[in-house]
Amino acid sequence: MPTVLAQTDDPREVEADLLVLPVFKGGIDGPGAQLVLEALGLERFPVTPSFRGEIGQSLKLAAPGIAAHGVLLVGLGRMDEVDPERLRQAAGVAARQARGVARVATTLPQVDLGRAAVEGVAEGFWLGGQSDGRFQTVADPAGTGPDEVIVLVPSGSVEEARAAAAHAAVTTRATLAARDLVNLPPDHKRPPELARLLGELAGPACEVRIRDEVELAAEGFGGLVAVGQGSSAPPRLVELRYQPEDPMGSVVLVGKGITFDSGGVSLKRGLKSLALMKSDMAGAAAVAAVCAALDDLGVRLAVTGLCPLAENMPGGDAQRPGDVYTAHGGRTVEVLDTDAEGRLVVADALDYGAALEPEAMVDLATLTGAAISALGPYAGAIMGTDQDLVSALLSAAGVAGEDLWQLPLWPSLDRFIDSDVADVNNTGDDAGAGSIAGGLFLRRFTRDVPWAHLDIAGPAFLTPELAHGYLPSGATGFGVRTLLAWLERRPPEPGTASLG
Ligand code: BES
Ligand code: MN
Ligand code: ZN
Repeated sequence: MPTVLAQTDDPREVEADLLVLPVFKGGIDGPGAQLVLEALGLERFPVTPSFRGEIGQSLKLAAPGIAAHGVLLVGLGRMDEVDPERLRQAAGVAARQARGVARVATTLPQVDLGRAAVEGVAEGFWLGGQSDGRFQTVADPAGTGPDEVIVLVPSGSVEEARAAAAHAAVTTRATLAARDLVNLPPDHKRPPELARLLGELAGPACEVRIRDEVELAAEGFGGLVAVGQGSSAPPRLVELRYQPEDPMGSVVLVGKGITFDSGGVSLKRGLKSLALMKSDMAGAAAVAAVCAALDDLGVRLAVTGLCPLAENMPGGDAQRPGDVYTAHGGRTVEVLDTDAEGRLVVADALDYGAALEPEAMVDLATLTGAAISALGPYAGAIMGTDQDLVSALLSAAGVAGEDLWQLPLWPSLDRFIDSDVADVNNTGDDAGAGSIAGGLFLRRFTRDVPWAHLDIAGPAFLTPELAHGYLPSGATGFGVRTLLAWLERRPPEPGTASLG
């Protein structure tokens, strides 16, 4: 992901295969862009009847008379609405238009967003330019890349821009690593294999411990064992420990890691494509990717990442609807539906994590279809027992350009989690509020540690028609940059808005 920062006052002289110029709706941006367009004889606006500078739009032009071989105009939308997220999106669009191009240069728009502008542009280019040919024997004719992105920054801000690009390199590398794991086919990441991959990813920054199925049973991880018992590939718990010198506090992160969710004996029906269920480990991938980046960002908190991994299959030893198992910590759970498996593995990890007595716990889980019904793929649902924690995560999501929407954990619905035969049941079906019921189930395993639950079933994975900006089809890496912004304790940037 090489980015070069260059200082220039005249983009007409920049040697590049493609020169990207950001364009606001209703106007050409900045004196530099103006010079280029005049050189191309295009100083009028709109440049063409259809290209009006809307967000998502782009227009490729030949470029006689300037040093660059071609020009790409990308829309930013209205000038007064431009924020770092818009820049990320526009840069993502540009990156996809720049497939197969070796060397791209881009000007920055004339808006004062400080270091967030360079960060947004760099993140957008790298996140939008990702292509995944790992399982194709013939290379995509559209090519990959761009290989090199040159961000042209105003004189005097090169130092600041350099720091911003370095920061973006870390957050992007983590996000891309999470995406790569989620996009892996399910036969290439069965729990023992995925445990190894997560350990490799976070290993340089963290101490890694992987528990196998024998240790899990011996230590009382009943939910993880129960979910894993229907598969010929046994479950694992990956524990990642990041320990800085003189930590300012401690945090536990938990990520749901179902490497494939068939539903188990309560087999999934009516889902358009079961293949989507390879993404049911997106929470675990995000947590490991976050842990991998902590050292590079100099995070001052001690962080324990817990990734419970299992494959939910309907094999001969699979759990049956009606089974009762003992969860970590001693509570008994009646399994009414084996497809509500995520909360079983996350609950064990939460209880184990809570016993470490951290100051806060956050879990990420593709937990409920109901979260998709409520928010679509556009936002994750957030619930929690501590409003300061939830608010801090909402604000971090704003910095990252990821959208979270808070749902309540109504105590009056708690009775739907009760069971006639055990301490809890795993569906809470009669509550008629699927995502909240999932949250209420998990809450019972948090031992009063301040906790937030992110149900990322919607935004973790996109079908091709939903790809846009810097979000490709397939895995998005949702949550990685939000958690990093939260752990870094970054203040919200000026002009940062969320969807809606
Ligand atoms: N992994 C699914 C949730 C999911 C569905 C994620 C679609 C992404 C896309 C989860 O394990 C599940 O099956 N949840 C059930 C819970 C129900 C049985 C209480 C659901 O949402 O239907
Ligand atoms: Mn399920
Ligand atoms: Zn699941």
